[in-house]
Formats: sequence, C-alpha cells, structure tokens
Amino acid sequence: MIQIINYANSNSISLGFTSSTLGTWKSEPGEVYEAVISAVKSGYRHIDCAPIYGNEKEIGEALSYLFKDGIVKREELWITSKLWNNAHLPENIEPAIKQTLADLQLEYLDLYLIHWAVAFKPGIVFAQSADEFETLENAPLVDTWNGMIELYKRGLAKNIGVCNFGIGNLQHLIDNCEMAPQMNQVELHPYLPQTKLHDFCKKNNIHMTAYSPFGSPDRQAKMKADDEPSLLNDSTISEIAESKGISIAQTILAWVMSREICVIPKSTNKGRIKQNFEANDVELTSEEIEKINTIEKSYRYVKGDFFTQNGSPYSLEDLWR
Ligand code: A2P
Repeated sequence: MIQIINYANSNSISLGFTSSTLGTWKSEPGEVYEAVISAVKSGYRHIDCAPIYGNEKEIGEALSYLFKDGIVKREELWITSKLWNNAHLPENIEPAIKQTLADLQLEYLDLYLIHWAVAFKPGIVFAQSADEFETLENAPLVDTWNGMIELYKRGLAKNIGVCNFGIGNLQHLIDNCEMAPQMNQVELHPYLPQTKLHDFCKKNNIHMTAYSPFGSPDRQAKMKADDEPSLLNDSTISEIAESKGISIAQTILAWVMSREICVIPKSTNKGRIKQNFEANDVELTSEEIEKINTIEKSYRYVKGDFFTQNGSPYSLEDLWR
C-alpha cells in the first residue's frame, strides 16, 4: 500500500505531499551521479527513474555508494522506475524489471509504472515507423497490467501504477483487472492542473505524481513548440513568489503539494536541488492557491505527438483518453 505520511514525522517512506523527490528525466549520464548524491544528502528520499532516461546504471552506482558509505539505508529510500513501451508483452515484463533492478543495483522497486499507454515491438527503443509499433489489439493494456500485478505479488515491486493514463484508460483497468493502479504519474503544473483527472483519481484511491512541474524547459528542441509559454516566468506566480521571498519554482512545488500530489522536479544543479527540497517548508495561503488555480493559461508541454506520427496506429485521442 502506498503510504501518504509526512516524512518528517515518520520512519516510513513518504510518497505523498513532499517535493523530496528527484526527477531524473534529462539528467545526463556524467551529471546524475552527483545529482542523486547531493539530493540524498540534502534530505531527498524519493528518486524517480526510468530506463528510457538512459541513466539508471549511473543512478545505481550512486545508490550503491550511498548505501556502502552508510549515508542512507535502502529501506529509507523510495525508488520508482517504469516499464518502457517495448516491453508491454507479458513475456517481456519480468526481464524489463530485472534489467532495471540490475542497473539500479537493487532487489526491489518501491514503485513500478507502465510508462505510456503505447506499445512498441520488442527491441525497438523509439518507434519511428508504423511497423515498429505494437497495436493495443496485440498488446492489450489489460495484459500488460496483469503482468505488473504479477511483479507486485512476487515483491519485485512493492507498489505498481501507470503514467500518462487518462480517465478512460484508468477505468478500463479498474473494470477489467483484479487490482487498480496505485499511482498515475502525469504532466501537471499550473498551466495543466489536471483537475478532472485528479478528482477521478481521488475517488478511486489512485495517488498522483506531477512530472515536468516547471514545464520541462530543458527538453530537446525537437520536442518543443516555438511559441511555448514559460511557466518559470509566469507573472501571477512571480508576484506570489516575490511577496513571500521565495522562488517561482518553489511556489509551483508548494502549489502542487497543497493538492496532495507528489512532485518530481528535475535538477542536476546542487543549489537548485536544495532549493527545490526547501519548498517542503513553504505554505501558501488559500488566496495564493486560488490565484494560481485561476490562471487562465492552459498548456501541455509533453504532448505525446512523438507517438502518433509516421503511420503510428495511435492517435492523441487514444493516448489521453
Ligand atoms: P537544472 O537541472 O540545471 O537545475 P522539469 O522538472 O519541469 O522537467 O524542469 C527541469 C528544468 O528546470 C531543468 O532545466 C532544470 O535545470 C530547471 N530547474 C530545476 N529546478 C529549478 C529551480 N529551482 N529554478 C529554476 N529552474 C530549475
């Protein structure tokens, strides 16, 4: 069971409201080792990983160092990773988690998530043409989810969930499987508050994690639109930040946490890693929260259109349904 506990007051692992979570998407090998060590030394206890980020081996080396040096114990950390799109077929799920565990030098994960409701043919890292995709007819989400339940039953993953699932895909698993996802990790920030999805998840006891809380400004240029709004320069958030003497980034993190959503800011910069952790201590007033809630700008930075081109059998409607 995922526990929502205030970490500061408990021996148990917190997944819930804190920003004591390090995102590692776009953290380059060569940088992520120091980032993980610096995060744990600053107090972070939750690291969000995925094999497609290409850095799990280096994170494993950092974890191994932290355990050997007695800086933190395995049971004090919460490590999340994800099943990549090329391992959705039932026979590929266990090998995928075993590879991740070997790379991270761990015996179990605290949380394992289906990364996308999109399947590729086995061995394809990123599908570029129609024949490299696996359709949901050949790789039904229910079969993949049942494979995840097996991992959970065997203790390889203490909790299981999904990423990038809309209400329709979540309901489909709830209706057809013995266990519902415990977590849904999605893009979430003041320009994409995901209010309906959040209400649905709350009703169904599914926790949420917010990725790209700052709008992921360090994404590759090919993943970005020319006219993207800059969340870290938003005038409403900036006003609130200035009045409290904190940063815009910290204001965003505090806003996410005020909604009881876990948040995974990515940074490889020591100072910003520390600053993001300190957002745990920021409290926004209900007026400040309401001001952010009523920002009218609406924007999804990670659109998923890289899965719907070149003859792909997936459409954006399928993806976010
Ligand atoms: P860096 O890694 O150099 O700190 P997201 O979490 O939405 O994917 O955003 C990650 C981006 O935000 C990275 O470019 C990261 O840069 C930057 N970032 C992380 N923390 C902060 C912060 N506190 N203030 C400003 N930028 C930040």
